[in-house]
Amino acid sequence: METKIFKSTKEDIEKAADIIRGGGLIAFPTETVYGLGADALNKAAVEKIYIAKGRPSDNPMIVHISDIDDLELLSPEITEDMRVLAKEFWPGPLTMVMKKSPEVPYITTGGLETVAVRMPEYNTALLLIEKAGCPIAAPSANLSGRPSPTKGSHVLDDMKSRIDGIIMGEDSSVGIESTVVDMSGDKPMVLRPGIITPEELSKVLNKKVFLDPALLLEDKEEIEERQSEITPKSPGMKYRHYAPKAEMVVFQGEPSRVMEAIDIEKERLEKNHKKVAVILYDNSIQAAREFFGELREADKLGVDVILAGGIEAEGLGFSVMNRMLKSAGYNVKKV
Ligand code: TXA
Ligand code: MG
Repeated sequence: METKIFKSTKEDIEKAADIIRGGGLIAFPTETVYGLGADALNKAAVEKIYIAKGRPSDNPMIVHISDIDDLELLSPEITEDMRVLAKEFWPGPLTMVMKKSPEVPYITTGGLETVAVRMPEYNTALLLIEKAGCPIAAPSANLSGRPSPTKGSHVLDDMKSRIDGIIMGEDSSVGIESTVVDMSGDKPMVLRPGIITPEELSKVLNKKVFLDPALLLEDKEEIEERQSEITPKSPGMKYRHYAPKAEMVVFQGEPSRVMEAIDIEKERLEKNHKKVAVILYDNSIQAAREFFGELREADKLGVDVILAGGIEAEGLGFSVMNRMLKSAGYNVKKV
C-alpha cells in the first residue's frame, strides 16, 4: 500500500481526517510519541491497527478525544475525580482508564470492560480528531516491541507501506508515553508511569494515588519467576517492549562509578571487536526526550552492545527507568 505523506497544514490534516473517517490508518504527532490512529468506534478500522503493528489483540488501545464532551460517548460513569484530573491535565500526557460504554467495541479495549482515554496536546492531533469527527484509537506508531517513535522518520522506518498515511509534524517534546491512571476502581492507580507523576495526581485529587505493584519489580529473575502469577492491569506492560536489536546493559550506582564501569566495559568489548554505543544523561527531561531515538540510532549504526547509565528513579526519572529496564530486558549491572 502507498503511504501518503501529509504536512502539518490545515488542508493536509483535513485530507488525513477523511482517511480516518473512511476507516483508514493515519500516523500523527503527539507531545508524548507518534500515534497510529483509526476510528475508535469502527471495528474493521481498529483491526487494521493490530495487523499493521503486528500487535497481540488483547493489548488495548488508548482512545484520543479533542473535546471533554466526547467523554460522555465513551463512558457511562464519569466521576468528579476524572473531571478534576481532566481539567488540570488535559490536553496533555495523561490517560485515564474508565468504565466503557457499549458504543466502544471490545476490539478497541482488548476485550476489557474499561476504556483508556486521553486528550493530546499538539494542535495537529486535536485538529485531526476534530475533523475526523470520531474518537481516534491510537497506540504508539511503532512495530510491536520496537521503541516508540518520537519523530516522523521513526514511524516511516517501521510503518512505510503498512499504513494509509502519516502527518509529518513536530518531534514529540515529552518523548515517553503518557501516564496511564486507572480511575475505574475505588482507588486511583498508576498502571504506566509517565511525565505526570503519582505525586502530582495525588496533590490535585487530594487523595492517595497507588502504583501498580508490578511497576516496582526490577529484578530479572524475580520478574521471570512471577511473570505467570502477575496479571498486570495494563496488559501492554506484560509484553517485551521498546527493545533495540542490540544487546543492552543498564549500569546502576553512583554516577562517577557508573561512568568508570562503562568506560572499562566499553574498552573490553571493543577489544573483542564489538561495536558499542554509550547512553548517558544528566537530567530526566532530556533522558525522556532522547532515549527512544537513541535506541533507534544505535540499531541504524549496527551497534552490538548498548551500555546505558541509569538515572535516579525519582519523579520522571522513575518513568524513564521503567522504559530503560524494559528495553534492556532487565539486564542490570550494579556498580
Ligand atoms: O502517550 C501515549 O499514550 C501514546 C500516544 C500515541 O497517545 N499512546 C500509547 O499507546 O502509548 P500504547 O497502545 O502504545 O499504550 C497503551 C497502554 C498500554 O500499556 C495498554 O495496556 C494500556 O495503555 N491500556 C489501554 N487500555 C487500557 C485499559 N482499558 N485498561 C488498562 N490499561 C489499558
Ligand atoms: Mg506502545
